[in-house]
Amino acid sequence: MKKIVILISGRGLNLAAILEAQHTRAWEANIVHVICNRPEAPGVAVAKKFRVPVTIIDHTSFSNRSLYDQALLQKTRDFEPDLIVLAGYMRILSKDFVHQFSEKLMNIHPSLLPSFPGLNTHRAALKAGVKWHGATVHFVTEDLDVGPIIAQGVVPVMENDTEEALASRVLQIEHLIYPQAIEWFIREQIILEQGNVRVEPAQQQFFMLPTTPEGIIHSNDE
Ligand code: GRF
Repeated sequence: MKKIVILISGRGLNLAAILEAQHTRAWEANIVHVICNRPEAPGVAVAKKFRVPVTIIDHTSFSNRSLYDQALLQKTRDFEPDLIVLAGYMRILSKDFVHQFSEKLMNIHPSLLPSFPGLNTHRAALKAGVKWHGATVHFVTEDLDVGPIIAQGVVPVMENDTEEALASRVLQIEHLIYPQAIEWFIREQIILEQGNVRVEPAQQQFFMLPTTPEGIIHSNDE
């Protein structure tokens, strides 16, 4: 049984999608713990609902960044995880952390990387006038938002889209691709070679929202 630790900071919608998938798809894996750096994060209740133990490590209660980083590293290490999943974890991990869990650390970023790294990706996509946007699941490396890409999901950008409408469409695809990428990892189907990820046996690593028979993309937000 693989052991998974999930790090969160906020709403926990990806966390919920992952925990649902664990139940419905009978993964050979235990989500042993959720660690959250914000005591008031709604994601804490999500973990509790699924009866996953949660530890809060409030970054504001440490006198400096390095002490927080050490506490996070130590706590995570205690679980001897095979995989660490960042699900809306909004702090930059220390170099130590990334090295210790190299190739065992996954993140989801709300854009089609390498486009729009960093924050406010939906605003940036609308400003750039792109016609496709989406989300990327990738392994985490020292540099922000550039690690090997495991899966990507695309959504259309509609005329007159607001940031909120686009964000909610992207979330739908996030909830499809993140559980899928985790499942590949659990089943040891991920091959990482020279910074590129492929899946064995070969599978499509890009995803779209489901379409109607007429080819119209189904989207809950319209
Ligand atoms: C998601 O948009 C994810 O792509 C980004 O942070 C957000 C987290 O949302 N990394 P949630 O906490 O999973 O609802």
